[in-house]
Amino acid sequence: MRIKTGIEGFDELIGKGMIQGRVYIISGSPGSGKTTFGVQFLATGALAGEAGAYVTLSESIGNIIEDMSQYNLSIEKYLKEKKLFFLDIGPIRDYGEYDELSAFIEPGIEQQEINSPENAPPSPYTVFKNVEMQVKQYDIKRLVIDSLSAIRFTSQHPALEERAVSKFIRNLKNLGCTTLLLSELLKPDAYTIDQFVSHGVIFLHNFMDKKGNMVRALQVIKMRGTRHDCQLHGIEFTDKGLKVLKQFNNKG
Ligand SMILES: Nc1ncnc2c1ncn2[C@@H]1O[C@H](COP(=O)(O)OP(=O)(O)O)[C@@H](O)[C@H]1O
Ligand SMILES: [Mg+2]
Repeated sequence: MRIKTGIEGFDELIGKGMIQGRVYIISGSPGSGKTTFGVQFLATGALAGEAGAYVTLSESIGNIIEDMSQYNLSIEKYLKEKKLFFLDIGPIRDYGEYDELSAFIEPGIEQQEINSPENAPPSPYTVFKNVEMQVKQYDIKRLVIDSLSAIRFTSQHPALEERAVSKFIRNLKNLGCTTLLLSELLKPDAYTIDQFVSHGVIFLHNFMDKKGNMVRALQVIKMRGTRHDCQLHGIEFTDKGLKVLKQFNNKG
């Protein structure tokens, strides 16, 4: 079954939608639109009655909600309807002005018990257990994890680290949600283990052209089981979030 991301111009690049229950990597540099992409995907699910969760390991929930509320995506409405959940499993923080929404934001998660005592990035096990609880309790169908880069996959040996990443992604596949793993794109020309083990990889580009203009673009790198478009497409931010253009028109 294919599910709609709801991102204008995107679903048609990938055979009308993502395959339900799979794990996709959304990779891009800071400011390239990963969070926007993820929140649009969740809002589209919420509109169709599917509960979604945004799991953050780096940015605070207050900041994300504040930024994403600039778009016309009914974020606060879905939070109150319990069709959208935000779960913070990074170091403990205040919600600031979003304190009054905290009951809708982080329901019943015993995060202190599971988290390590220091402010260290959480381990894949901690992240998975938190996510699994949330998915079961609230019947989550769409999941966004921000970001894979903020999980502590550290290990003495690169081969062990690869095994840990691949085990984490395999476990996520077994949860039955359609999952977007956001990932910081550090080296666009080098493949990383997450890209091998996921079902699909989407790059969000954000770079300066020769004339000094910032250029934004999206590219589908991999999409298993799908005849997909491989071209670079320009993107724009509208009041509904990201919009994928038919072409890449950069003349720089
Ligand atoms: N309401 C908006 N209107 C237009 N552009 C926006 C709006 N909100 C964010 N942006 C653009 O989107 C960028 C951030 O997107 P975001 O999804 O947070 O990226 P990432 O998660 O990859 O860092 C901002 O740097 C800004 O350029
Ligand atoms: Mg982000």
